[in-house]
This record gives sequence, structure tokens and C-alpha cells, in this order.
Amino acid sequence: MNDFRKRISARLTEVKSLGVNLARVDFEGEGIGANVSPGQFVMVEAPGRHDCVLLRPFSYFLAQSANHIALLVRAVGKGTQSLLQSKPGTPVVLLGPLGNAFPRVKGHCWLVAGGVGAAPFGHLANSANTRVLFGVRTSADLGFGNALRELGGDVAVATDDGSAGFRGTVADLLRRELEKSKPAAIFTCGPTPMMAAVAKVARKSDVDCWVSLEERMGCGFGVCRGCAHKDATGNWRCVCEGGPVYLASEIFGE
Ligand SMILES: Cc1cc2nc3c(=O)[nH]c(=O)nc-3n(C[C@H](O)[C@H](O)[C@H](O)COP(=O)(O)OP(=O)(O)OC[C@H]3O[C@@H](n4cnc5c(N)ncnc54)[C@H](O)[C@@H]3O)c2cc1C
Ligand code: FES
Repeated sequence: MNDFRKRISARLTEVKSLGVNLARVDFEGEGIGANVSPGQFVMVEAPGRHDCVLLRPFSYFLAQSANHIALLVRAVGKGTQSLLQSKPGTPVVLLGPLGNAFPRVKGHCWLVAGGVGAAPFGHLANSANTRVLFGVRTSADLGFGNALRELGGDVAVATDDGSAGFRGTVADLLRRELEKSKPAAIFTCGPTPMMAAVAKVARKSDVDCWVSLEERMGCGFGVCRGCAHKDATGNWRCVCEGGPVYLASEIFGE
């Protein structure tokens, strides 16, 4: 078992472009894929960026074996850009697995993802018991949804501008699909307003819903308090400790 605060030396093995500023990034290193459950995250060094003192948090997309993992990365700043620009063989320090995981659910589970929110669903997407509803603004942003489909996932797409799949938000698509059938549970990840809308639709249909929150993080294991987030009762919670996965009602209320 990994000591969860022990930094592990790994090697970046591949950066596969999935669109503009989107890529799947693979790593190998002793034990980096051990004891990982879907929903957990890993802190990753920004390779070659000595000005990035803090590691950056990423959901595990896949932990293919004890020594291999893959992430889906969207470049938004210097840390994520440095990952996308790195060459195979680049040494990278990682820290994980951290945080909690999605619960085990009996029955069918729908995975509702917005953009980079597809990342925690790599393991779950290719199960016969799941389907993915994936939303983005426009068809040019579909890369992460395609990555889930390549794993064998049943992926329905929503685009805000109607350039692919259902026209509208992924919450609108969810509302339509729930009129036809109901899963045992919904897991959602993406921008907070999107997850709030998904949670509301799930609540109206009386389906249990779990959300995976994103906050800026410093340490990743409960020391810096940089990832504090207010819950539905107004209490502060550290996303890295109690989360990132929560029952939707804990965050967005009943
Ligand atoms: C639990 C968790 C899991 C995550 N999983 C993934 C993942 O699988 N793939 C992925 O691409 N990203 C993921 N993220 C977000 C990722 O950590 C940030 O995009 C990254 O830290 C930005 O680093 P940077 O150096 O590129 O950006 P910086 O240069 O630090 O900042 C650039 C811009 O990005 C914004 N930003 C930075 N961090 C965040 C954040 N956490 N949320 C929203 N905006 C942010 C900043 O406000 C700024 O505007 C996750 C975050 C968390 C907390
Ligand atoms: S990231 Fe430091 S306490 Fe959560």
C-alpha cells in the first residue's frame, strides 16, 4: 500500500492530443496505479516549471496496472501546459491516490460529465452497468467524450450550440433521458453550476446523485486548507479530505 504522503518518482510516457489544449497523458512508475479507486485524484508536478512550487490535482482517468496511469488534461495555465508540452521520458513526481471514491452502486449508474469532468469516469465508463451523458459547448470540444467512447463507453453527447448530438446542456439531456428510464444512481463531474443543475434534475426524479467537486488545492491531504468549500448548511469542508465525492444533497441541499 502507498504511503499517501509519499511522493513517487514517475516518468511521462505519452501525450496524446485529443483536441486544442486537450490531451490524454500517460505515466509509468513503481506503484503509481496501485490501490486507486474511481473518483480519487493524484497531485502531479509541473515538469520543468520550477516556478510552479505546488503539485496540481488531477482525477485518475485510468490506473491500467500497478505501475501505469493515464490522466485527461485540459491546459489552462502553466502547470497543465507544461504537461502537454512534455516529451516521453520526462521525469515527473506524483502524490496519490488521494481523496475518496465514488460509492459502489447496485444497478445501473449514469455518469454525467461536463468537459474535463469526463476525467474521473474512465474506469466506470466501460462497465455494462453505466452510460455516459457528456456535455460541451461545441463539437470541437468532444475529445474527452471520445476518449470515454474509445474505452467502450456508451456515450450520449450534448452540445450547447447543437453542432453534435443533443442541442442544449447535459442537464437538459439528462432531464429528457429520465423521462424514458431511471438509473439507480447518477455520478456527476464538471463545472459547479452544471453539477448543481444535474443535482436538481436528479432530485426531481428521485434518483440518488453524487458530485465530484473541484477546488484549487495546495497540499492535497488536509493541511493547507486551500480547498475549503461551503456545504449546503454553510459549513466549510476540505475537498481533498472529505471529498472530492459528496452526496449532491450535502453540497446543493435537498
Ligand atoms: C480533485 C481535482 C481533480 C481535477 N482533475 C482534473 C483533471 O482530471 N483534468 C484536468 O485537466 N484538470 C483537473 N483539475 C483541475 C486542475 O487541477 C487545474 O486545472 C490545474 O491545477 C491548473 O493548473 P495550472 O498551473 O495549469 O493553472 P494555473 O496557472 O495555476 O491557473 C490558470 C487558471 O486556471 C484556474 N484554475 C486553477 N486551478 C483550478 C481548479 N482546480 N479549478 C478551476 N480553475 C482552476 C486559475 O484560476 C487560473 O485562472 C482537477 C482539480 C481538482 C481539485
Ligand atoms: S488542498 Fe490542502 S487542505 Fe485541501
